[in-house]
Amino acid sequence: MEFNIATIAGDGIGPEVVEETLLTLEEIGNAYNHKFNFHKVLAGGVAIDEKGEPLPKETIEVCSKSDAVLLGAVGGPQWDHLAGDQRPERALLGLRQALGLYANIRPAILYTALKESSPLRSDIVDEGIDLCVVRELTGGIYFGDRGRRVHETMGEEAYDTEAYSVGEVQRIAKTAFEIARTRNKKVMNIDKANVLESSRLWRSVVMEIAKDYPDVTLDHMYVDNAAMQLVKNPGQFDVVLTTNMFGDILSDEASMITGSIGMLPSASLGETGLGMYEPIHGSAPDITGENKANPLATILSAAMMLRLSLNLEKEAEAVEKAVTNVLEKGYRTADIMSVGMELVGTKQMGDLVRKELCQLLKTSNA
Ligand code: IPM
Ligand code: MG
Repeated sequence: MEFNIATIAGDGIGPEVVEETLLTLEEIGNAYNHKFNFHKVLAGGVAIDEKGEPLPKETIEVCSKSDAVLLGAVGGPQWDHLAGDQRPERALLGLRQALGLYANIRPAILYTALKESSPLRSDIVDEGIDLCVVRELTGGIYFGDRGRRVHETMGEEAYDTEAYSVGEVQRIAKTAFEIARTRNKKVMNIDKANVLESSRLWRSVVMEIAKDYPDVTLDHMYVDNAAMQLVKNPGQFDVVLTTNMFGDILSDEASMITGSIGMLPSASLGETGLGMYEPIHGSAPDITGENKANPLATILSAAMMLRLSLNLEKEAEAVEKAVTNVLEKGYRTADIMSVGMELVGTKQMGDLVRKELCQLLKTSNA
């Protein structure tokens, strides 16, 4: 089969980790007889430098005509002085909105081989961590009314608004319940319904949708308690359903407790099959160009892309298995390094995954 994939290398370590991922996809293409046409487009800081804006029209056009979008990372200190709507991050928000990607799927898994890397005590992680954050991505305070005005007595005032409509909550809740059906059939809804009106509506809509999924268990937690429970007993979570901003915060926490932010992939999905796939980590300006970045989160994002946008389940599993095997053989990039393991760079890690893929394919054809 033939597929069109828009690729956004972006800033910082983005180009390095995307390069390893494209090479890995080519390997998959050769092995399984698929043709991946990569369309390179600009977004983020590099687009500001070359085109004068973080998200050029052409980028949106190419992405919306593709089967999927693969993104490295955007942002860096050299663009920090820019105004809000001209910053590199604007590209991400703009793409999510323009492509209608309202569902952000962020699985956080503690790999057996990486147990040592978790900052949590071993008696806490012994049960394992295998949860999936389902974050609403095109609504809430990120896109609500905002501005400046003058306070009666306190001077200038700035405000941002959290607003959610029934339709917005219904569609993200359905996504969460559908995903729960493919996992351990548990949804934990996280909100702040003891304080926020938007959370009260959110929770009531989630409870309505739950009636269509009697096979899935639904529980609720306030976000402050959830932040605590994630470090106290992360094994209790399966699917975590939450709003745009709570999801932003909790997904960083969820990735940290697995000890491997450099390992975690994500998918952003909408009504159509088109999705955007990117690692959870950022552009890591401190190690840019040093062949130190961990390419596995981007490679695993490509696996999610194979599965969710291109419907290539076998191929996705092969990539995931190759990554697990490389870790089990003791290879580590600096971010997940521990005593007794072998330290490798970005390129070498990519090569190892591809070598492992070849090996897997040979044994499965034998
Ligand atoms: C993320 C990031 C973005 C967000 C930023 C870069 C705009 O933190 O994808 O989690 O807040 O959504
Ligand atoms: Mg974030």
